[in-house]
Amino acid sequence: MLIAPSLLAADFMNLRPAVEMLNKGADWIHLDIMDGTLVPNISFGFSVVDPLSKLATKPMDAHLMVVHPERWFERLSQDGVSYVSFHLEAAGRKTSAHIEALHSLGLKAGVAINPDVPVSRLFPYIGKADYFLIMSVFAGFGGQKFIYESLDRIAALREEISRRGHRALIEVDGGVGTGNASALRQAGADILVAGSSVFNSDDPLAAIEALRQA
Ligand code: DX5
Ligand code: ZN
Repeated sequence: MLIAPSLLAADFMNLRPAVEMLNKGADWIHLDIMDGTLVPNISFGFSVVDPLSKLATKPMDAHLMVVHPERWFERLSQDGVSYVSFHLEAAGRKTSAHIEALHSLGLKAGVAINPDVPVSRLFPYIGKADYFLIMSVFAGFGGQKFIYESLDRIAALREEISRRGHRALIEVDGGVGTGNASALRQAGADILVAGSSVFNSDDPLAAIEALRQA
């Protein structure tokens, strides 16, 4: 599995060492961008992403928890971000158009859903999106408890992707740690996002490796 630690859980007074640590051990660097409208919290924007992007040597994975996500696609591509996910709840009928817009910028496109959105609502985008982000907590805050029903949602999505003969990746985000990583792998997850379980660890690099081996 690929591990995408979320910088949301890092010490914001010390983002440089956090990114340097992730350059050593992470597969992707997960950037949680919130606007206070789609989700009840504000995280950080381009004044943080721009300098981080100059430091990051691992692929950056932006998770847009914002309304009108398409406004930021070009700017993210200029920052060298490789993967961009946006929420189906924000995009609605424009989801396919957003996927195409990301592809035309050379970016990989991900479609994200919160735990209260039926997973079958992602099925129309199988064969279009490069990956799907299943939230295993409600988007907005780090440090929440993993919602166990997420395992069934991941398994259902994995089964539908396989049934159609596609290869889209499944990313899981929220409350991920060594206690559920192996169940997530068995359910069909490819990428684990982990915030607190990595950054609250005494040895974040070992925590990343433990998730990868789970
Ligand atoms: C929540 C974010 C997550 C969050 C995960 O809205 O999308 O990426 O940082 O944090 P943990 O791993 O602490 O649940
Ligand atoms: Zn996230």
